[in-house]
Amino acid sequence: MLSDKSRPVIEATLALVGSRIGAITPNFYSRLFAAHPELLDGLFSRSNQRSGTQQQALAGSIAAFATHLVNNPGTLPETVLSRIAHRHASLGITEPQYQVVYEHLFAAIAEDLAEVITPEIAEAWTEVYWLMADALIKLEKGLYAAQANGKMWTPWKVAAKTPAGIGSMTFTLEPADDTPVTAALPGQYVSVKVQLPDGLRQVRQYSLSGDAGTSRSFTTKLDDGGEVSPVLHNAVEVGDILEISNPYGEITLKDGDGPV
Ligand SMILES: Cc1cc2nc3c(=O)[nH]c(=O)nc-3n(C[C@H](O)[C@H](O)[C@H](O)COP(=O)(O)OP(=O)(O)OC[C@H]3O[C@@H](n4cnc5c(N)ncnc54)[C@H](O)[C@@H]3O)c2cc1C
Ligand code: HEM
Repeated sequence: MLSDKSRPVIEATLALVGSRIGAITPNFYSRLFAAHPELLDGLFSRSNQRSGTQQQALAGSIAAFATHLVNNPGTLPETVLSRIAHRHASLGITEPQYQVVYEHLFAAIAEDLAEVITPEIAEAWTEVYWLMADALIKLEKGLYAAQANGKMWTPWKVAAKTPAGIGSMTFTLEPADDTPVTAALPGQYVSVKVQLPDGLRQVRQYSLSGDAGTSRSFTTKLDDGGEVSPVLHNAVEVGDILEISNPYGEITLKDGDGPV
């Protein structure tokens, strides 16, 4: 819950911070990747960084979270937090990385708002950041603990690669080692990590087909301008090994065959 001291400060600066997210975001990411270039190899999407469309999701969601705290005291936006936590867990985000993001995000905020920022403003927004980060860390810990294994990535062999309509391909996988397999709930997805022709690793999410359980099958649509789907469609063949995450995703389809 937001402290009584921070609440009026957040209320007074919400519009300003919200209006500056577009400028703060590129500064934040250039600081983050200059200090930690390894985060671009197998974690953050290079396409999202290039196109800028998804770039604002992180900082923008903190401003949205602050709005929620101000408008709905004593509650948290559970659905949004859960969606982010599942996505993070599918990417293997760890608790120490929240401190890294905090440092670079707040350096970018301080630089952008240099003319207006006061210690009180910095303190209030730091409180908002850690309220959100701590909620995500807790959810992510629970998600990791619920898995059948403690591994982030496990190898799966492509058992079948079947065309599934124009520009779509279904991949059916089988375990390539004896790591215990978490049963997936209907509607969940896995992250798939592939190496691109230039050597960089990239991760994308794919929804598991049908009543997945401990089987793993997903259908990908080819995006010619993309990085990962062309590799899956054009380079990955039956017998190849794919690295995939445990299953995540908070939107699960109900049992039965009625409309969802
Ligand atoms: C929870 C979840 C479940 C999903 N399930 C599925 C699924 O079941 N099946 C499926 O096919 N997909 C699914 N997706 C989408 C999937 O994860 C990928 O986003 C998709 O395959 C495209 O990835 P890509 O690497 O091929 O393209 P990306 O490399 O991510 O590129 C995406 C788009 O960005 C554009 N782009 C790249 N660089 C720039 C630039 N400089 N300027 C402007 N635009 C640019 C590209 O042209 C491309 O059109 C899911 C996503 C999520 C989050
Ligand atoms: C309080 C801190 C954080 C917030 C509020 C936050 C918020 C978000 C949001 C809103 C998304 C999009 C989720 C979706 O639409 O499914 C996202 C995705 C993502 N987050 Fe976070 N995040 C935080 C911390 C972190 C940390 C510490 C890391 C790792 C260093 C991280 C890495 C990622 C990555 C890699 C994605 C996938 C999108 C991409 O590749 O560009 N996040 N986050």
